[in-house]
Amino acid sequence: MSHPSKHLLAIEGLEPPHIADLLDLAESYALLNRSGKTQRDLLKGRTLINLFFEDSTRTRTSFELAGKRLGADVINMSVSTSSVNKGETLLDTASTLNAMQCDLLVIRHAQSGAPALLSQKVDAAVINAGDGTHEHPTQALLDALTIRRHKGRLEGLIVAICGDIAHSRVARSNIHLLGTMGARVRIVGPPTLIPADAARLGVEVFTDMRAGLKDADVVMMLRLQRERMAAGGLVPSAREFFRFYGLDAEKLALAKPDSIVMHPGPMNRGVEIDSAIADHPTRSVIGEQVEMGVACRMAVLDILARRLPRNR
Ligand code: NCD
Repeated sequence: MSHPSKHLLAIEGLEPPHIADLLDLAESYALLNRSGKTQRDLLKGRTLINLFFEDSTRTRTSFELAGKRLGADVINMSVSTSSVNKGETLLDTASTLNAMQCDLLVIRHAQSGAPALLSQKVDAAVINAGDGTHEHPTQALLDALTIRRHKGRLEGLIVAICGDIAHSRVARSNIHLLGTMGARVRIVGPPTLIPADAARLGVEVFTDMRAGLKDADVVMMLRLQRERMAAGGLVPSAREFFRFYGLDAEKLALAKPDSIVMHPGPMNRGVEIDSAIADHPTRSVIGEQVEMGVACRMAVLDILARRLPRNR
């Protein structure tokens, strides 16, 4: 079982064996969770702090459950974005947390790079739970695990990531992970929502959604991240967006007949995805993504805790 760092700050930089190890371990936790058993001795005596400077439902709850199922003492700290004076406050927070001898620190922050900065200032293992438009590594792991469970592999699959790519840390982490594991990644969206560095990311770019969905094995929909659109007007209107880039039955028919539909949540029904598709009993795996989220976070906590000194 290998992991190249004390922290999990990004998918970029991980190699196929590191990712495969995390996914295999997560798969075993998925089975454990379904059996209703826990493993509360594994992180007994360890402290996990959830430090969320941005809103979250799934990710924070998921890390909390993961920590508790492995026996850690879990503390949730929500910090309102408005009171945050980036650098200074973060470093002050870091020294406070250090004094509390926290072992595992999960952080979400509006600023790209905040978890990396914190990781240099604390003794704890730091896990990035989403930083600005940069990365959201555990989301990519849970997406990959969900895909693998349905398709049996990642290599060679055509994955269409659709919508607001430019502002999405979920897209960025998925592009790195899926590309590293040999999938063919397409990004699909209006030109205003395609990142400027798309060419460097090694993906195929489509501004016509129908062409982008053709023969896809996996269709991953993303939310319009309006809070990150500084100028506001990158898309005309929600209705217009749905017409060209919303996933409905007619557009989904262009993907492979057994393709799966994913969404990291929170969903805006009728904007990027039609309700009937989001709730589709066989094609939508959105609920399973949430389930795999807990398993993946257990795997990450487990792997990182192995590198922590026993008595701090
Ligand atoms: C995502 C996020 O916060 O980056 N949500 C999540 O973690 N499931 C995606 C989003 O906010 O649209």
